[in-house]
Order: sequence, then C-alpha cells, then structure tokens
Amino acid sequence: MPAFENDVVVIGGCGHVGLPLGVALADRGLQVAVYDIARPAVDGVNGGAVPFDEPGVGEVLRRTLDAGTFRATTDPAIIATAEHVVVVIGTPIDEHLNPNLFAVPDAIEAVADHLRDGQALILRSTVYPGVTALVERLIERLGLDIDVAFCPERIAEGKAMVELAALPQLVSARTDRAFKRAEDLFARLASQTIRLEPEEAELAKLFTNSYRYIKFAIANQFFMIAADRGLDFARIREAVIHDYPRAADLPAPGFAAGPCLFKDTMQLAAFNNNGFTLGHSAMLVNEGLPLYLVSQMEDEHDLAGMTVAILGMAFKADSDDTRASLSYKLKRILRFKAKAVLCTDPFVRDDPDLVPLEEALERADLLVVGAPHTVYADLQPTQPVVDVWGLLADG
Ligand SMILES: NC(=O)c1ccc[n+]([C@@H]2O[C@H](COP(=O)([O-])OP(=O)(O)OC[C@H]3O[C@@H](n4cnc5c(N)ncnc54)[C@H](O)[C@@H]3O)[C@@H](O)[C@H]2O)c1
Repeated sequence: MPAFENDVVVIGGCGHVGLPLGVALADRGLQVAVYDIARPAVDGVNGGAVPFDEPGVGEVLRRTLDAGTFRATTDPAIIATAEHVVVVIGTPIDEHLNPNLFAVPDAIEAVADHLRDGQALILRSTVYPGVTALVERLIERLGLDIDVAFCPERIAEGKAMVELAALPQLVSARTDRAFKRAEDLFARLASQTIRLEPEEAELAKLFTNSYRYIKFAIANQFFMIAADRGLDFARIREAVIHDYPRAADLPAPGFAAGPCLFKDTMQLAAFNNNGFTLGHSAMLVNEGLPLYLVSQMEDEHDLAGMTVAILGMAFKADSDDTRASLSYKLKRILRFKAKAVLCTDPFVRDDPDLVPLEEALERADLLVVGAPHTVYADLQPTQPVVDVWGLLADG
C-alpha cells in the first residue's frame, strides 16, 4: 500500500454529515482533510466556525484545528493525499420528485484525476439503489485499483456527535478487503459494525427513513381523524401508549419534513417503479398537514382579517435547518389566506424576513407553532394558538 499523507479526505466535508464525521475521525487520532466546493463554508470551518447548528461539533472542530489533525480546502488535489476517500455530498430529489442517480458518480468523476491506486473509496451519502455498483463500474472504467464500500450515515441532525459513536455502522462492500478497510475506519468511531451487501445497505438506509416518515404520517392522520370529530388526539395517544409497549413508538403529530425523510421515501418509490403505496400515502398526509391546519383555522377564525405569526421556521425543534421545512409551505398558504403573516425563529440565520419573537407576539392575532423549539414551551400568549405539536401548555 502506498504511503498517504492523510488518513481520510471527506468530499462534501463541510456539510451537515461530512463535518461531524470529519472532525470526529480527526479527534480519534486520524489525519483528516475535508474537500468542499462551498468556499464560504470552507473558510469558516478553517477559522473554527461551524456553518450550521450542531451541538458539540464546534468544540471538536477547534480542538482538531489546533492539534493540526484537521483542515478544510476547496482544492480537489487534496484527494490524492488520502488513504480513505469518503463521499458525503447531498443527494436531493428534483422538483418532480426524481432522484438524481448521478449526483455521487458525477462528483467522483469530476475529481477522477486525483484518485490513486490503493485508496479506499467509501460512499456515505444516501444513494439510489444501484449507485454503489455504478461507482464500482466507474472505478473499473478509470482503470484504478481502488476498494469501494458503501456505509450509509444514520445520524439525526442535532445528535451527530453522540450518534456517530453510539449507532452501529452499516458497512457494505463486494470484497472482504474493501469491507475490512471500511470496517477498520468506522471502528474508530463505533463499537459495532453490521456487514451487508451493497444493495442491501442501500435499501436498508432507504427503508430506515421511509419507515420513520410513514410512522409520522400515521400519527398525523390519526390527529386529523380525531380533530375532525372535535377530539384531542394528544389525550387519546397518551392513553394508547401508557404502559402499553406495543404502541410505545406511536409518534406525536407534527410537521414531518427536512432534507431526508421525504426525499428518501421518494427515492424508494422511484426505485420501486413508483409502486410504493404506503410511501406515497405518507407523503400526501405529511405534506397535507399545513393545508389541513389552515382549513381548520379558516373554520374557526376570520383569517382574511387576521395577522398570523408562525413560531419556528426550521424543520425540527431547536435546529437552524430550514431545508424542506413545512413551516414555509404553511407560510405560503397563509400569505394567500390571511391579512398578514409574520415569521420568527431564534435559530434561523439565513431568512431576512424573520421578525423577533416579541414583535410576532405583539402584532399577531393568531399564532401557529411551526417548529417546536423548546424556548416556546413556556410562552403564555394572550391570542389563540394552533399547536399541532402540543408544545405549549394550552396548545
Ligand atoms: N443531514 C442529515 O441529518 C443526514 C443524515 C443521514 C444521511 N444524510 C445524507 O447525507 C448526504 C449529505 O447530506 P447533508 O445534509 O450533509 O448535505 P449538505 O448539503 O449539508 O452537505 C453537502 C456538502 O457537500 C458539498 N458538495 C456538494 N457537491 C460537492 C462536490 N461535487 N464536491 C465537493 N463538495 C460538494 C456542499 O457544498 C455541502 O457542504 C445526503 O445524501 C443525505 O441524504 C443526511
């Protein structure tokens, strides 16, 4: 095996998944560099600033920068210096819900000049099934002697630094050598690895996210069934789950959104020739929840004469991530129906239209909880509140 200057290079390493992974590996004694095309993020990271909220990452980033075991760059030449090349770029669906089958292979081909014999290439993005095989064929076509593995990331945003160490790692590869190299790398982080074939691991990741998305849809549909009959789903759910293990995982209702669950359910649907009835039904329920809430508001209030404030624009509690957030869908519908819409969020930094919470509370006739940020839990507003999450005491 040739000597490499770096143990790991992460392609897409300034993102929500790549950065926690990169700094965690650097913190465990490996020499790590991340390569990313986003120059502002790279500059910020090299200065010790994390481009998004993720508990614990900033501290480890600054520690590893100081120790000289971690750095970020926009120069793809860094890839040639690493024994392990981890790819964790985004894999979104398009506006017609089609997965981009070539996002990962294209990103690899774009840096092909910097790949070297003897490297291990580890795909970490959530991919459309068959992408690992496509990358294997690409490496063969390029005439490179590189071990390919697929090891999907399963962390949840907000828990990255804890879950990177706590979750078993799904490791898949066609050969024992490729498997062993990927297993040895992730053994730096986690104590358990589970071996799968690449096609199994690709489906395992999509099944994981689709399952969760469908579970949220069940809760949301139950909520709507109860609410249509004037009943409080929170009370019913509490009774159902209380000391009853078989229903303990019934989620509370709420916006099921964000960059992963919906798009991975749609990736699975596309893979199964659009024959994924449960997945598509879950999408109708989850994406329909903002519409349902607004129609409830219309039934109860004269919306056209009211100023409505949305509390929380991120896609989940205590996060700054607005990607695919249903609060923005809610905002669009309300802009059409209400006199005015105010939006507030203590974490979101990249939306110039937000107003401070105090202003929202002062000016609004009606409040809607968009994201159940903890800071809202103790509010005692004077105006009515629409709170599907059941966060506010009187919600
Ligand atoms: N966000 C999560 O919690 C989460 C959890 C598990 C799995 N995933 C999966 O991980 C992957 C990455 O998700 P993310 O949330 O980190 O995305 P992200 O958009 O936060 O990060 C992707 C990074 O890749 C960079 N990038 C894009 N194209 C590039 C290229 N050609 N070369 C170098 N850098 C490039 C971007 O600049 C960005 O910094 C996706 O497949 C996603 O489904 C995400």
